[in-house]
Amino acid sequence: MGEPWDIDQEVKKFLEIFDNDPIEAVKAIESFKSNQATVQSRTKPAPDTPVIISLDSVKKSYRIGRQRINALDGVSFEIHQGELIAITGASGSGKSTLLQIIGGLDKPDAGIIEVDGVDISKLSDGKISKFRNQTIGFVFQFFYLQPFLRLKTNLAVPGMFARTKRKQLKQDVAGLAKSVGLDERLNHLPRELSGGQMQRAAIARALINRPKIILADEPTGNLDSANGEAIIELFEKIRSDYGTTVVIVTHDAKIASKADREIHLRDGQII
Ligand SMILES: Nc1ncnc2c1ncn2[C@@H]1O[C@H](COP(=O)(O)OP(=O)(O)OP(=O)(O)O)[C@@H](O)[C@H]1O
Ligand SMILES: [Mg+2]
Repeated sequence: MGEPWDIDQEVKKFLEIFDNDPIEAVKAIESFKSNQATVQSRTKPAPDTPVIISLDSVKKSYRIGRQRINALDGVSFEIHQGELIAITGASGSGKSTLLQIIGGLDKPDAGIIEVDGVDISKLSDGKISKFRNQTIGFVFQFFYLQPFLRLKTNLAVPGMFARTKRKQLKQDVAGLAKSVGLDERLNHLPRELSGGQMQRAAIARALINRPKIILADEPTGNLDSANGEAIIELFEKIRSDYGTTVVIVTHDAKIASKADREIHLRDGQII
């Protein structure tokens, strides 16, 4: 016969995922069904700084067998230099797809995407990897630290690709480790660090080439709430210290509320 069905308990659990907001829960189900994306921008006015990321009618679809999934269905928005932006939306609403397109890891089917003044959908593969290494720092949910490299070497990796001089790189590694509170840990292996420390390390690594833009996909997804908040505070600090533009994909409404603006993906086009 299986478990008794405690519907109250199940509904309660379900609503908790959506911060006890039944409307959000229903909308999330709708957007999951339609598998499309809509962008909605929230209040706070844009700063006076130049636009650094601009999307105009960007579309991306995937074909699985006969089914066509519109991951992004005409998405347009602008992000100004130095903004801290949260990208939110239900699972499958296109958040990771959007981040990958902004970072040049994937190309749109249609539309224009300009990052730091360059139409990146037109760049050759060689140029795009150079663009990525110079302009973008990626932070992922799973930290992707090399398990067999000490922390200081892990932090240095993108700098080696950028052919930064050894002396400069050593200085940068030391400085960044200090700013994320890991200067005592530089000789450690990743497995000797906590989850929060690993994520801070991954952020320091993303900053090593002084990118103008940080793109982070669920950077707090694997952390408890205290560590998650510490990561957001770190992004705020990076933004104010270096003027870096920070775009964070998150499921967490509390984290999103710390951003200047929220871009919410759902159902197709811009409202
Ligand atoms: N490589 C792929 N091949 C086929 N379909 C894909 C591929 N990548 C993404 N999709 C589909 O595109 C849609 C958007 O996916 P995406 O990963 O961008 O969502 P997401 O908002 O990041 O979701 P989550 O919150 O679960 O990470 C989904 O329906 C997904 O199944
Ligand atoms: Mg995703």
